[in-house]
Amino acid sequence: MSRRKITVIGAGFVGATTAQRLAEKELGDVVLVDIVPDMPQGKALDLMEAGPVYGYDSKVMGTNGYEETAGSDIVVITSGMPRKPGMSRDDLVKVNTEIVKSVTRQVARTSPDAILIVISNPLDAMTHVAYRVSGFPKERVMGMAGVLDTARFRTFLSMELGVSVENVQAFVLGGHGDTMVPVVGYTSVAGIPVSKLIPKDRLDAIVQRTRDGGAEIVKLLKTGSAYYAPSAAAVEMVESILLDKKKVLPCAVRCDGQYGIEGFFVGVPVKLGAGGVEHVYEIDLSPEERGMLDGSIAAVRELTALVDRLLDESPQA
Ligand code: NAI
Ligand code: 2OP
Repeated sequence: MSRRKITVIGAGFVGATTAQRLAEKELGDVVLVDIVPDMPQGKALDLMEAGPVYGYDSKVMGTNGYEETAGSDIVVITSGMPRKPGMSRDDLVKVNTEIVKSVTRQVARTSPDAILIVISNPLDAMTHVAYRVSGFPKERVMGMAGVLDTARFRTFLSMELGVSVENVQAFVLGGHGDTMVPVVGYTSVAGIPVSKLIPKDRLDAIVQRTRDGGAEIVKLLKTGSAYYAPSAAAVEMVESILLDKKKVLPCAVRCDGQYGIEGFFVGVPVKLGAGGVEHVYEIDLSPEERGMLDGSIAAVRELTALVDRLLDESPQA
């Protein structure tokens, strides 16, 4: 059986690191696409040359076109501008709508059966753009954010308690923005509710640090944004799909009524398998968490309405 084919659009920090992790895990052959001439070809060759040392046989190919991506099983979309210091994710909406629209059109043409994983920001709205432009069923379009935000939350909790990150189970729901909802009620350490281990004021501070997790990295890097944890999160999603692991992960998916979300993308817990989004889990939330989720949903609804207007204004562009 030939290897699976994974296309990564955008060969910048997130895209190239995602390609590296995919090759190292031998999840398939990887096609890396970017508009910058020669750059994806150079990164792909460099990754191929790491294969003998690292011990992987995945082929990595770089290109500025889409023919080489034809028949991909999964397409990860990272193309777009990253957030700069002081810039909100939402400032990126106009420029990234155009970019995501144009790449989605091309991948929908060359890989009509692919599953799309969007990473470009603002995440929930860009995933909606990919859904609308591709015309793919909702099970095959999803956004990566919740796995990253949850990983940050788990990291901070493990640092606080001095325990293995593997023992920390958590969920961050809602939009990938300042309104995201780290759900303390479903957070545990080896099964022990976290509220029994960490006092409320410390937990509140960790929740806030999680919400600011992307900005904290942006501030430290000075240019660009996080990419090691984001690429790791994307690869966990790819792996769950390609290996049909059916992991339950928080992902931005199109909800049709769940959590009161009608027809747009928000981060909720889902089962990811060979069919893409195979189930959306609806969990009970405390009144406080439900209120926070409603606030997050409202923020995403507003941004989605903005991209809908942008798409309606130039449907053919
Ligand atoms: P980057 O600037 O390093 O890479 C972006 C790449 O996209 C560049 O190489 C650029 O040439 C390319 N590109 C632009 N237009 C393109 C087009 N039409 N076709 C193909 N390639 C194109 O940025 P980075 O750090 O890789 O971030 C990428 C995106 O991911 C940003 O929007 C960033 O905000 C977002 N992001 C989202 C996260 C999430 O949790 N969802 C986490 C981290 C980043
Ligand atoms: C992050 O959370 C920039 O959205 C990106 O790191």
